[in-house]
Amino acid sequence: MRISERAERIEPFWVMEVAKAASQKAREVAHTDRPVVFLNIGEPDFTAPPRVKAAAQAVVASGQTQYTPALGMDALRQAISGWYAQRFGVQVPASRIVVTAGASAALQLACLALIDRGDEILMPDPSYPCNRHFVSAAEGTAVLLPTTAEERFQLSAAKVAAAWGPNTRGVLLASPSNPTGTSIDPAELARILDVVRSHGGITLIDEIYLGLSHDDQFGQSALALGDDVISINSFSKYFNMTGWRLGWLVVPEQLTPVLERLAQNLFICASTVAQQAALACFEPESLAEYERRRAEFKARRDYFLPALNELGLTVPVAPDGAFYAWADCSAACQKLGLKDSWDFAFAALQHAHVAITPGRDFGTDQTARFVRFSTANSMAELHTAIARLKAWLQP
Ligand SMILES: Cc1ncc(COP(=O)(O)O)c(C=O)c1O
Repeated sequence: MRISERAERIEPFWVMEVAKAASQKAREVAHTDRPVVFLNIGEPDFTAPPRVKAAAQAVVASGQTQYTPALGMDALRQAISGWYAQRFGVQVPASRIVVTAGASAALQLACLALIDRGDEILMPDPSYPCNRHFVSAAEGTAVLLPTTAEERFQLSAAKVAAAWGPNTRGVLLASPSNPTGTSIDPAELARILDVVRSHGGITLIDEIYLGLSHDDQFGQSALALGDDVISINSFSKYFNMTGWRLGWLVVPEQLTPVLERLAQNLFICASTVAQQAALACFEPESLAEYERRRAEFKARRDYFLPALNELGLTVPVAPDGAFYAWADCSAACQKLGLKDSWDFAFAALQHAHVAITPGRDFGTDQTARFVRFSTANSMAELHTAIARLKAWLQP
């Protein structure tokens, strides 16, 4: 069977190889005193809070599960608009909000609406692997620009200006980022926007981890910087609803009917059950629970980062959000005679029974030196992981 060039261009997730090995190991050592600690998974260990679960049960029982409008339920778009005002002090009318099946569908819609064959989109190396594939699926080309720790592993205005070529259509940023947990400095972001605007380009910014920001300096939405910014968001991370498949994007007013047309044809609508349930996310009781969990994520980071650094797994830029630590394992590799972060990840699994993600999926520049730790696990598991890594690395 002939497979489309488009499909052939999409690379496999290497991280799944590690995940498979981790599951195999987990089965082998499940009944020992050293079961595998999973720090490779990019999703919250929490699930939807009680009122959201109850709302989902109620809507299923009521049978009110027909399609919703393609742009999403009006009440949900209003609730998201209210959240922007309450949490970030930014006015985003519901008419600019498009509800989707997760940030993934939001990214697909944005790319399909704005990218033509041959258009180039600038993005940082390292970055979330699917983002370059969304661009590629829309027949565009993702251009990964190497970043440095000084740049917080984010693009800078100077870099965007220097890389802008005749086919460049815009930038796709993520703040805070996966895999680094670092955000773009707001002043730098304003300068990037100036560069993009000077070329008549587009700015797509993935703010899926913005709800899990731990630092007021960085915790502002890029939507405050202008109505031309396209922001992608989700119920997966801050709202702890990964498998519910619900997200949204905020677009300039004139794009809403375009996305409506695409969404009608490609998806009809996002899950009705998930949308109805998500209304309960914005009730005071749920919001209080989400804030409690955000504090827990911060506490985990505050424990885990110094502990990693002490092990010589240096995290060059402290993450200000999300639940990741992007650690340089090159010194440890040298000491242990390991080739790169890929081998390090497998060795950590073998020797410490700790599952982590090698840098390979996230780019090509320095990713052979870096591994990603996810701190979306209990404090007890994080303590166990550090103790095991210490016994392995500093016997
Ligand atoms: C940076 C980033 N963007 C988008 C997504 C996709 O999220 P969703 O579950 O909302 O589709 C993820 C998931 O891990 C992510 O890390």
